[in-house]
Amino acid sequence: MKHAFHRLDAPADLVRVTFRGQVVDLPAGENLAAALLAAGVTVFRNTPVSGAPRAPFCMMGACYDCLVEIDGTTRQACMLEVSEGMVIEPAHGKGADNALG
Ligand code: FES
Repeated sequence: MKHAFHRLDAPADLVRVTFRGQVVDLPAGENLAAALLAAGVTVFRNTPVSGAPRAPFCMMGACYDCLVEIDGTTRQACMLEVSEGMVIEPAHGKGADNALG
């Protein structure tokens, strides 16, 4: 897939996660938002009000555009590291409306 984000070095050890039910191999320990962007993920969630697509913007925990749901908890992908077996879904419900939309 052609996208705007490219790795500058060879990835570290890859671990398997799922995003929206699709298996994705990501570098263990890397920033989750950056790893998903580098894997070609362009939409992390849709806003509950307008349905507008959202993806990481600030990469420092301020904008909430990177919200995802992991194990039933809404989290900021830019504040997490990749770990084996993560089941990642777009954020829904409580917490998902933090960003404008
Ligand atoms: S990208 Fe802004 S809070 Fe994660």
